[in-house]
Amino acid sequence: MFAKGTGDGCGAIAPPSGSPPRVRFVRLLNEAHVTRPDEVVLQLLERHMPAAMLAVFDADAARDLYDRGKQLPGTPTRILVHDATGVTLNAPVLGPGGEPVLNVLSGTSRCGQPLVAKLLYDPASMAAEMQLCSALQLAPWDDPSAHPYFMARASVVGVQVDPDDRSGMAVARRHGALTALLMQRHPVCLAELPQLSGEVIARGARQLLCALTFLHAAHGAGESSWVHMDIKAANVLVSSSGDWLLSDFGSAVRDGGTVRTCTVEYLPPPKDQPNQSTPTVACKAYDFDMLLVLLNIEARKSGWKMALFEAGRRRVNRARLEAATDSLLQSTAFAESPTELREDFAERVRYIRAHSTLTHDKQAANAGHDD
Ligand SMILES: Nc1ncnc2c1ncn2[C@@H]1O[C@H](COP(=O)(O)OP(=O)(O)OP(=O)(O)O)[C@@H](O)[C@H]1O
Ligand SMILES: [Mg+2]
Repeated sequence: MFAKGTGDGCGAIAPPSGSPPRVRFVRLLNEAHVTRPDEVVLQLLERHMPAAMLAVFDADAARDLYDRGKQLPGTPTRILVHDATGVTLNAPVLGPGGEPVLNVLSGTSRCGQPLVAKLLYDPASMAAEMQLCSALQLAPWDDPSAHPYFMARASVVGVQVDPDDRSGMAVARRHGALTALLMQRHPVCLAELPQLSGEVIARGARQLLCALTFLHAAHGAGESSWVHMDIKAANVLVSSSGDWLLSDFGSAVRDGGTVRTCTVEYLPPPKDQPNQSTPTVACKAYDFDMLLVLLNIEARKSGWKMALFEAGRRRVNRARLEAATDSLLQSTAFAESPTELREDFAERVRYIRAHSTLTHDKQAANAGHDD
């Protein structure tokens, strides 16, 4: 066994020992110049992510997994969370592509209900997600009735991790306030599903539009409305009854506020700023853009990049998005859909488009308002 190391990659190489997967993993880490890996991190990875440890095949991937493992809460933190909330934290959930999502842990409630705990580290994002959950009354997470507006329910819980306890959160920077969002554990996110039928996509579109309308309504006197700013299939959870629930409010800001993060890949740059890297002012029209992109992707799950990206670029192109939206109903997903469903869906798509920057490009680029 190693002595507890600094994890900073300095010092002499200790001979790896322990189980074969650990020995192999530590050898790869040594090749990546992490010569004294932190024992706490190694134990956490072994306990909670053994498959990921085995799946690592080169030194860079080992270092990457080790660095990500530093974010896992250690045993003292898990005990603290359990004592304060009754929640047992387990391993990270698997996100799109089967990749473990380090900040989203599966767990169980005091009464044995399966849940997900999203750990919030970044103070700005933490504040936004917390504010939004209380402003929109998404809590309590375990309310058995579905949220009427197809939003993923979440309740905020917090504990204070003792700064003297180095192993509490595996690394020093994780000390202090730890906030988590508790949520129902849903079977999948939309990004994990294969090509769906037109009927399912049309139903989901209705639900996401309902969620956006709710989110975009002003909540609280004198407050501007919220803007999601990261609508994409990985942020839509699919419930056991097949409902599409809008989730991940980590990028949400008030309308007209400064954009913190968003997935630029899915956002066509404004007409007058074709090289814009990231939008700076949040506005509702961006949410409609991203919803339009999401629906185009769902309608052509295997060929969407060809349809939406310019050759050699990795960002949705405005002209291509317009053309793809025009021919959305010609995609194979809708080939067998009855006329009534097609008409209903087409009307909804027209509405989304009318509220997107495809129609309101100028306003979005300049003022941050779409109406
Ligand atoms: N309640 C849940 N039930 C099941 N899986 C979930 C749940 N919440 C999140 N996930 C999974 O974890 C992934 C990441 O969650 P989320 O998008 O909230 O966090 P994130 O780390 O902020 O992601 P991003 O990088 O998109 O900002 C989701 O795409 C989904 O696969
Ligand atoms: Mg997300």
